[in-house]
This record gives sequence, structure tokens and C-alpha cells, in this order.
Amino acid sequence: MAVSISIALLLTVCFVGFYVPAPSLAASAGDFVGCLSTDVPSQLVLTPGSPSFKPLLVSSIRNARFLAPATAEPPLCIVTPTNTSHVQAAVRCGRAHGVRLRVRSGGHDTEGLSSRSQRPEVFAVVDLAKLNNVHVDPQEATAWVNAGATIGELYYAISKAAPGLGFPAGVCPTVGVGGHFSGGGQGLMMRKYGLSADNILDASIVNADGILLQDKKAMGDDLFWAIRGGGGVSFGIVLSFKVRLVPVPPMVAFFSVTKSMDQGAVEAVTKWQTVAPALPDDLTVRVNVQQREANFQSLYLGNCSAVVATLRDRLPELNLTRADCREMSWVQYVAYIYFGDAINSSPLEALLLNRTMTLGRFYKNKSDYVKEALTKDAWEKIFTWPTGAAAEGQLVLEPQGGRMGSIAEGDTPFPHRAGVLYNIQYLESWAGGNTTTPSWINTIYDFMEPLVSKNPRAAYANYRDLDIGVNQVVGGASTYESGKVWGERYFGGNFQRLAMIKRKVDAGDYFRNEQSVPPLLS
Ligand SMILES: Cc1cc2nc3c(=O)[nH]c(=O)nc-3n(C[C@H](O)[C@H](O)[C@H](O)COP(=O)(O)OP(=O)(O)OC[C@H]3O[C@@H](n4cnc5c(N)ncnc54)[C@H](O)[C@@H]3O)c2cc1C
Ligand SMILES: *[C@@H]1O[C@H](CO)[C@@H](O)[C@H](O)[C@H]1NC(C)=O
Ligand SMILES: *[C@@H]1O[C@H](CO)[C@@H](O)[C@H](O)[C@H]1NC(C)=O
Ligand SMILES: *[C@@H]1O[C@H](CO)[C@@H](O)[C@H](O)[C@H]1NC(C)=O
Ligand SMILES: *[C@@H]1O[C@H](CO)[C@@H](O)[C@H](O)[C@H]1NC(C)=O
Ligand SMILES: *[C@@H]1O[C@H](CO)[C@@H](O)[C@H](O)[C@H]1NC(C)=O
Ligand SMILES: *[C@@H]1O[C@H](CO)[C@@H](O)[C@H](O)[C@H]1NC(C)=O
Repeated sequence: MAVSISIALLLTVCFVGFYVPAPSLAASAGDFVGCLSTDVPSQLVLTPGSPSFKPLLVSSIRNARFLAPATAEPPLCIVTPTNTSHVQAAVRCGRAHGVRLRVRSGGHDTEGLSSRSQRPEVFAVVDLAKLNNVHVDPQEATAWVNAGATIGELYYAISKAAPGLGFPAGVCPTVGVGGHFSGGGQGLMMRKYGLSADNILDASIVNADGILLQDKKAMGDDLFWAIRGGGGVSFGIVLSFKVRLVPVPPMVAFFSVTKSMDQGAVEAVTKWQTVAPALPDDLTVRVNVQQREANFQSLYLGNCSAVVATLRDRLPELNLTRADCREMSWVQYVAYIYFGDAINSSPLEALLLNRTMTLGRFYKNKSDYVKEALTKDAWEKIFTWPTGAAAEGQLVLEPQGGRMGSIAEGDTPFPHRAGVLYNIQYLESWAGGNTTTPSWINTIYDFMEPLVSKNPRAAYANYRDLDIGVNQVVGGASTYESGKVWGERYFGGNFQRLAMIKRKVDAGDYFRNEQSVPPLLS
């Protein structure tokens, strides 16, 4: 890995906005670590001198773009709590010694904010990976899941304890519960059951005073509302969520069909835009557009003959046949959609419980919401949009409608509900070390502006994108005006309420990062 070149590239790609002044509190590593030692066993606190420090720091970074700066500007230390009192100590000592915390559950933040800071601030990482228990109650159809668990660990635990139940969350099993649920959590069952955040029944959190709030009663309605989609980190450190499990049939159906432009991919995607959000809630068909092809993938909570019949009727452009479809249990499905045929040769444990990911390329992600179908002409341009020689561009289209459309905008902080046809995720990846900044993602994002949601142009909080704005810190707190710029794009009209709640629970803005909710000081 060409580290020195990567730093330059990172600055070009994601250095937006401006630096804030250095923190006025002169933090001392020694004081912070000394303070921790009263409550946290020393083997749970790793400092840069330790041989395990760098491997641990890198262990859950999911994008090679963040390796260079994370290595160059390491945190003071990494705290790896094994119980609640360690998390409380990190907050208390952090406040006492002017050290901010970057909280990490699965480490998938698309701007790496759980492991690094773009600001010249003194910070420590609180890595919750050891707080990863899942306790399933099959009778009640609920589970308590610790924030440091991955969604793969959750899926696996549910399938062991309660076959017949499942949970609506994302596709990649290594995604962490802590960040994913905090920002919403979309997946292939959201059309029937909503987001992960829509299925949170209770939670526990350590607040900005280092106090444990055991449940939603201790939290109060406002804080409990804010943590179900209002984005990670702004309101405290979530320790666990209680979730409602959902029924899944003994077998579900998966199909995958790929169409090239010659085979009518453009026509099929054009039609898909209005068909997919109106399909029965049991059926989700998402699309990957890449290299002039469209790949259609499904989750159907039913059998292959029914899904093939439905698609032949509603989207005959796919020319779907029984041979394109396979039936399997829900837990096999969650492994299969990510690992493909590896599930035939590996035990589910090795797939769903393995956090390791292969790194290599640099990634940049952005998102949009579409409320009016694009024309066939627009899709033709998108399919043939040029990528740089070393870069690859991809769009993932996730249909909404169903349950997503029937939840009111203010029920949770996640506002992208009625009227949304689908979410677009743009991904660009390129070979790390090449200083040429790829242009696909920014040029296509500009092209899309008139075609997608407006006033403001919406984005999904879990596909964090620092290009849309970062907080300014003035007088010791992030300003509401600077937060509004990106915040209304993620949270719409809910942003103001989030900022008022932030004022109530963390007026001093201790829990903050480049895109945390600022306190609304009236
Ligand atoms: C490969 C990949 C696949 C993805 N697939 C999907 C998908 O299918 N659907 C979808 O909706 N999203 C998806 N995402 C986006 C994902 O939901 C977000 O990146 C999410 O925030 C990751 O959570 P995490 O715990 O893994 O990340 P982290 O990087 O650990 O955390 C993300 C943010 O939340 C904060 N945070 C983490 N834990 C806590 C906590 N316990 N309390 C308070 N704040 C906390 C962090 O400080 C950080 O700001 C994917 C991302 C990647 C990289
Ligand atoms: C947490 O761990 C510490 C040791 O680091 C121990 O003293 C304390 O009793 C534990 N607390 C709980 C609630 O288990
Ligand atoms: C498939 O499901 C449909 C209902 O969705 C049912 O009528 C049919 O009998 C099922 N077919 C098989 C082969 O199980
Ligand atoms: C549909 O699929 C069948 C079987 O794969 C194939 O014979 C036929 O040519 C296809 N039709 C179209 C319009 O693609
Ligand atoms: C975990 O996944 C990584 C990356 O895919 C792989 O290299 C490793 O062998 C896996 N470990 C196990 C125990 O399966
Ligand atoms: C770097 O990117 C440019 C433009 O995308 C490309 O022409 C060049 O071949 C790449 N170089 C390497 C070493 O990959
Ligand atoms: C960001 O892009 C990378 C690769 O292109 C992809 O693996 C990852 O899933 C994307 N992030 C999100 C939030 O999905």
C-alpha cells in the first residue's frame, strides 16, 4: 500500500469544508489513560506503543481510503470495553481530560468517522466489538442485541434460537448493529417490515454525563425517538437495542437475472422504477447497474413458482424463468445473497460470524432518493456514463413502497417515506495509490440533480457523504446553521427536532464529529 500517495488522494477526495481551531483544552494522553485505569483493566486499553494497537485499529476499517490517515493520525488509544462501566469511564475521563470519543461498532461508516477524525482534535476510539451478545426470546419474538454485534451475528443467533423468525436489516453481514440501527437500516425486508430502526422496542445508552440510561423510560420519549434513525454518536453511546423479530416462512425465494443493454436492460430498469415499489410487500427486487448491465436480485417471502408468475406478469422485460430462482431458508438466504455459492462449502458460522473483510481498493459512496421515474433517455446516459481507466462505478437501486410508504415522516428521524420510489446508492471504487481522482461519481451525481428529490436533495444518513457538508464549530459547539446544510438532506423536517433534543441531552456538544447533530441553542 502506497501510504504517502494515499494521503494526498484522501485530501483531494474528501477534504471538504475547513479545519476548526485546535481544541482549547490541552489534552494529555497520560491523564486520560491514567483516569481510565481506575475503572478499566489495562489490557482493555491499547496505546500506540502496543504491538496490537495498529492491527486492532485497522481491524474494522472497511475502506482502504481511511487506512493512511488513520495510521498517520492515530487515536490516543483504543478502549475495548467488556462491560458498561468501561464505556461510562471512557465518557467521564474523556470529558475530564478534553478527549473526544470516536465510537465504533462495526466500523462500516462510509467516511470512516468511527476510526478517524478529519479535524486536528485529540480523540480516542471506543471499540464495542467485545460487547456483542445477542439474547433471543423466541416466545416473545424479541431480542436484546448489544451494539457491538454485527448483523450477521444477529441473523445467526435468531436462526439458532427461533427458526421461523428473522429481522429486517442490511445485506452485508459484517455491518455493525450500533451504527446501522442508529442511522435507519435498510434491507430486503423493509418493504414488508420497515427499517431496522422501525423495529426497535427499547434500548440502553450511556449519555454525555457518563450515566447509564437502562431503558426508554429512563431516556424519555425524545431521546428514544432520536436514537432510532437520527444517526450514530450525537446523543450518546448506545449499548444495546431490544428489537421486534418478524415472521419468515420456512423457505424464501431468491432470483438473480442480468440483462445487458442489448438484452433490454435500459427498458427493464425504466419499467422497474414504478413496478418494484408497487409489488406485493413480500417481494423486493433490487437492481445493480454496473458496466452497462443491470442485475436484478430478489427476496420473496414465498416460493419460486409464485415469484416467477408475478414477475412474468408485472415485469415481463426480465423474462424470468424457474431456472433463475432458488428456494432456501431465510438464514441461508442472508448468507447466500452476500457470499453466493460459498455457502455450499462453508458452514454458516464461518460466513455470518466472520468480521474479516478483504481491503484493497478505495471507495466513495453517495446517495439519492427518487420520487419521479427517470426517462429511458436518462437511463441510457447513466448506463453509458464513462468511468476512468482505473475506476469502477456502480448504482444500487433499492425499491421502497409497502410499509416504508405508510410510516409517517415524523414517526422516526428517517424521513424518506411516502412518495419515494427508490433509493440510489452510488459507489465508485478505484485502485488505491493512484493519485488520479476518479470523476465518475461526481459527474454522474451532478447529472442526476434535476432528476431526483429536491428542496433539499435528500440523502441516506447511513451512506454518509462528507461532500454534502460538515459542521463548523464556533464557541465550543457545532453550529445549527452549518449542520442544517447536510442535516436536512438526511433528516428533512426532523432535523430541527433532533437538534432540539441534542440541546436537551448534550448541550455542551461533547459527542460530536464532522456530521453530528448540533445543539439548537435558541
Ligand atoms: C460493505 C457495506 C455494506 C453496507 N450495507 C448496508 C445495507 O445493506 N443497508 C444499509 O442501510 N446500510 C448499509 N451500509 C451502511 C451502514 O449501515 C452504515 O455505514 C452504518 O453506520 C454502519 O454501522 P457500523 O456500526 O458498522 O459502523 P461504525 O463505523 O462503527 O459506526 C457508524 C457511525 O455510528 C456511530 N456509532 C457506532 N456505534 C455506535 C453506538 N453504539 N452508539 C452511538 N453511535 C455509534 C459511529 O461513531 C459512526 O459515526 C453498508 C456499509 C458498508 C461499508
Ligand atoms: C465491569 O468490569 C469491572 C472490571 O473491569 C468490574 O470491576 C465490574 O464489576 C464489572 N461491572 C459489571 C456490571 O459487570
Ligand atoms: C407457492 O405459493 C403459492 C402461494 O403463494 C401456493 O398457492 C402454491 O401452492 C405454492 N407452490 C408450491 C409448489 O409450493
Ligand atoms: C426468454 O428466455 C427464454 C429461455 O431462456 C429464451 O429462449 C427466450 O429467447 C427469451 N426471450 C427473450 C425475449 O429474451
Ligand atoms: C474470514 O473472511 C476472510 C475474508 O473473506 C477470509 O480471508 C478468512 O479466511 C475468513 N475466516 C474464516 C475463519 O473463515
Ligand atoms: C491511474 O489512473 C489513470 C486515469 O484513470 C490511468 O490512466 C492510469 O493508468 C492509472 N495508473 C495506474 C498505475 O493504475
Ligand atoms: C461503498 O462502496 C463499497 C464498494 O464500492 C461497497 O462495498 C460498500 O457497500 C458501499 N457502502 C455502502 C454504505 O453500502
